[in-house]
This record gives sequence, structure tokens and C-alpha cells, in this order.
Amino acid sequence: MDYNPVLPEVQANPYPYYTALRRDNPVAWVEPLQCWAISRYDDVDFALRNPQIFSSANWLGQSIGDLNPAPEVPWMIETDPPDHSRLRKLVSKGFTPRMVSRLEQRIRAIASELLAAARTRPDTDFVRDFSGAFPVIVIAEMLGVEPARRIDFKRWSDNIVRGTGRPASEAERAEVRATNAEMRAYFHQAIADRRKAPREDLLTALVQAEEERQTLTADEVLAMAMLVLLAGNETTMNLLSNTVLALLAHPAQMARVRGDRALIPKLIEEMLRYDSPVQIVFRRTTQAVELSGKVVPANGVVFILIGSANRDERKFPDPDRFDIDRDASEHLAFGFGTHFCLGAQLARLEAKVGLEELFAACPPFAVDQQRVQRISSVLLRGIKHLPLKFAA
Ligand code: HEM
Repeated sequence: MDYNPVLPEVQANPYPYYTALRRDNPVAWVEPLQCWAISRYDDVDFALRNPQIFSSANWLGQSIGDLNPAPEVPWMIETDPPDHSRLRKLVSKGFTPRMVSRLEQRIRAIASELLAAARTRPDTDFVRDFSGAFPVIVIAEMLGVEPARRIDFKRWSDNIVRGTGRPASEAERAEVRATNAEMRAYFHQAIADRRKAPREDLLTALVQAEEERQTLTADEVLAMAMLVLLAGNETTMNLLSNTVLALLAHPAQMARVRGDRALIPKLIEEMLRYDSPVQIVFRRTTQAVELSGKVVPANGVVFILIGSANRDERKFPDPDRFDIDRDASEHLAFGFGTHFCLGAQLARLEAKVGLEELFAACPPFAVDQQRVQRISSVLLRGIKHLPLKFAA
């Protein structure tokens, strides 16, 4: 059973491949991609905890090249300490728990509005009508994008995600470059406006963030806005869609959660473990390192299989069973350590509010299994089309 995350059969269901890797080849050389794949919980945990051995530098910028609107500024996610520490300290000032929890009411209103429209459609697609739209609107709201520019913001986001998701054609690249120019102009103006007249939003917080007399430049604020847009959209969308699909496959657990919404936070943690929206993060080794008895040489590209670590039988008993009663709290779906997901609290809040509103506002639903379509992605696990039928 050869593991290669580019293959459609692996993307359709990577879990049997992960089981085989963990058992037979926990530090596997993936010849077609010229990289190492590590699959056991303890090895994944070790790699995430040791950025001095497993470096994040430069992989993302290189992979998207001219699709990056501020190419001269590295994105936080592709930097190592100490550069990372400086950016993270500054950005965290904008991403405070207070900032996130202040959004709850607006998040609820956005969810409820989208669901009210979705449930009355004759052909509801949960992804098109809810999970695909919800996180983008929330991020626009959080950054402080005016309601009149939300449609532009959604278009920018869609174009950029399309451009980074797979090898793009020349026409697509041209479209992404045009999007970048538009987005850059918008944000530079918005940043200048915030300097003159601060508001209660993330853009203002980023503009004002200061640490030891250092601040973020306009391009660094733009790069951060882009990173938040890319990192926070499809991931949260997939978490919501994966949850609905898993509940439909486990009707007894669906009934329990419908009956007792206090179970939703446990459901979300189990979902993050069971079908992690981000399956892989990348690193490059700065020195030779031994994992599970095998040596990965220096300068090796390493695929860290988070999705497999979260199914490791050494950590989670009977890992392929979806069970909202289990303790899934040590899953690694948001990464760990230095680069631990900056938006984890926001993602959890969006998922909780989204599901609460779904159960409150919508009657029971069934899925048209024939028309469910998974996204094709090396990194992400999620759903492209999820057609639902609501009970009368
Ligand atoms: C279910 C939803 C989400 C999942 C599964 C997820 C997953 C992850 C993972 C695995 C990482 C670590 C990457 C690495 O170690 O290389 C990460 C980092 C990050 N995430 Fe998320 N994420 C989610 C939602 C969000 C949201 C909503 C935002 C922002 C609005 C966000 C912003 C970020 C940022 C900025 C980083 C980089 C942190 C750093 O480099 O220090 N994420 N996320």
C-alpha cells in the first residue's frame, strides 16, 4: 500500500494508508514527492515541538510565488524563531480572547441569517449555502471590511484560495495577480484610514500593535490579513461540513447532540481528531534527526501527518471509531507549539455557534449521498458539495 497524498484514492480515504504507515513504516520515504512522511503521534508531536530541528522557513512563499500580494514580506506561518516570535507577539495583540468573544453575537447573527436562507431553498447545498460562506463573512467582519465591500472580499478570497489550491493555469494566475492588486490597494487605503481614525476591528489592532517600539509595516499587516483569510476559511468550512457528514453517518450521536446542545464542544473536539481539516503540515530538517529508530537526514522535506497522529492507536483507543464521549482533547488538529493555530479559539467559536444555530433553526435533514463530493487536496480534508434535504 504505497502512500502518496497526491493520488485521488489516498485523498478519498487516507486512513487505511495511515494505519499501514504507522504500523510498518512510521518514517516513510515518499519517492514520487521526494519527501519523508511521519505518521505516529509521538513523532508528530516531537516535530511540532522542535522548530529548531523542523524548520517552517520559506515553504509557502515558494509554493505560491507570484500569487503572493506582498512577496517581499514572509508570512508568519513560514518563519522560524526569532522572526516568528516578533510577528506572533505583535499579531497576538489583535487576536485576543476578548476580541474573539466580542464577535460572538455577530457570528450568531451571520449564521442564523445564512441558515434561514439555506433551509428554504429547494436544493440546499450545505457547503455553498452555509459552511463556504460563513467563515469568510466572519473574517471580513473581524478585520473590519465594510459590508459594501464584502462581495469583493469573498471574490478575492475565492480567487486566492483557487490559486493556491493546485497548479494554476496562466489565465488563473493572471486573475489572481489582478485580485492581489485590487486587494493590496484596498488594504493599504484601509490601513491608512485606521491610522487616522482607529476603529474597533482587527485591522486597527494590527496597525496599533507595538512591541518594544516595533510595529508592523503596511505590507506586514496586509500579509497578516491574507494569512488569516487563507488559514481561516477553508479550514473552518471543512470542519463544519465534515461534522455534518459524520453526524449523518452516526444518527444516534446526531440525536444526542440535537437533544443536548451542551455536547457540541465535545463533538467539535472529536471531529477535529477524527477527520482533521488540515491533514498535513510541512517542515524541513535543519539537521539529521532520529524518529522511531530511523534517521531523517538534514535538509529533508518532512510531511507531518497530523491526520494520522490523531488516529494513532497508541494515543487514542479504537481510533477509527467516531465517539463524542471520548477524551479527544490532546488531538493535534491545530498543530502544537510555536505555530499553534492563531485562530483556534475563533474556529471553535464559529463551529459551536454554527452548529447550535443549525440545530435550533433547521428541522432534521438527510443527505443525498450520491451527490456528496470531496475536495481534492493534498493538505486539506473536506467537502465540496453536501446536498441536504430538510424534513417537512
Ligand atoms: C478548523 C479550523 C482550523 C484548523 C483545523 C486550523 C489548523 C491550523 C494548523 C494545523 C496550524 C499550524 C500550521 C503549522 O504548524 O505549520 C495553523 C496555524 C495558523 N492558523 Fe489555523 N486552523 C483553523 C482555523 C483558523 C482560523 C479561523 C484562523 C484565523 C482567523 C487561523 C489562522 C491561523 C494562523 C494565522 C496560523 C499560523 C500561526 C503561526 O504561524 O504562528 N486558523 N492552523
